[in-house]
Amino acid sequence: MTIKEIHNLAIQTGIRADFRGQEGIRKFLENKRREYEKMSDEEKQDFDIEALENPYLDSRIYHIAENKEISRVLVGIDVEPAEILMAEKMGNIDLIISHHPLGKGLAHLADVMDLQCDVLNFYGVPINIAEGLMKERIEEVARGVNKANHQRTVDAAKILRMNLMNIHTPCDNLAAKFLHNLIAGEKPERISDLLNLLRKVPEYKEAMKIGAGPKIFVGAPENRCGNIALTEITGGTEGSPKLYEKMAQAGIGTVIGMHISEEHKKEAEAAHLNVVIAGHISSDSLGMNLFLDELEKQGIEIIPCSGLIRVSRTG
Ligand SMILES: [Fe+2]
Repeated sequence: MTIKEIHNLAIQTGIRADFRGQEGIRKFLENKRREYEKMSDEEKQDFDIEALENPYLDSRIYHIAENKEISRVLVGIDVEPAEILMAEKMGNIDLIISHHPLGKGLAHLADVMDLQCDVLNFYGVPINIAEGLMKERIEEVARGVNKANHQRTVDAAKILRMNLMNIHTPCDNLAAKFLHNLIAGEKPERISDLLNLLRKVPEYKEAMKIGAGPKIFVGAPENRCGNIALTEITGGTEGSPKLYEKMAQAGIGTVIGMHISEEHKKEAEAAHLNVVIAGHISSDSLGMNLFLDELEKQGIEIIPCSGLIRVSRTG
């Protein structure tokens, strides 16, 4: 496979696992095209044209030093110049894949957060409330990523002539779908049952060994789960803290997330929601693994680094 084929496969795999469905994605892209068509010629020149075809602008190809058949990839959760140097020192790496966005992917992180409105709506939060509260938060995230040194790692890849890309939301979609199916199949009754279920997932089992396994952040083991929502696994980063009250009103009893801030935790407590934090890097690993298996099936060798807990489900 070439780098472009890997990127394309990631986008298509992400769409198949997306809460919005194929139709929702089609509408999302159509909206982007309508906005583009309304622009003046000058505005069009500055427009990121990839937005018309890629619904995940946080997942990009950053540098193609050599366009070739890929047989060995170095994959990490966070890729920084250290990982680029590592790949160069190893000498036989065809492509570096990061999970978290870099460069223009990081600058566009807020663009994928619209997905959270649809996820919240899927779990019963009225779309107007989801959109209203997310709008504020999306703007906050857009301002937050603005301060980053976006191109630092991309520059390192250019200097050392390494191929570099990242896959963020498509993999988070895969993790969310995996957990959604796991919970729908097992229907855990109490929080302790939910924790036991999560702890059987190999990535979480491995994270437990270093003290980073699934944990209760709000609630107690004997609490009943009620409706369990996967509202915080995909869609860029944390949503609005004001959403918890609305989620409780919509009938959600337990939220499973990757990570949670103190402010969000307090709001969840006030809304009497249970919050189970599955783990950040382990959840990111789960989503990456589900995609990396597709590459492995194509004969590509995967070398994990930077926190990636590699578990293959191909055999
Ligand atoms: Fe992450």
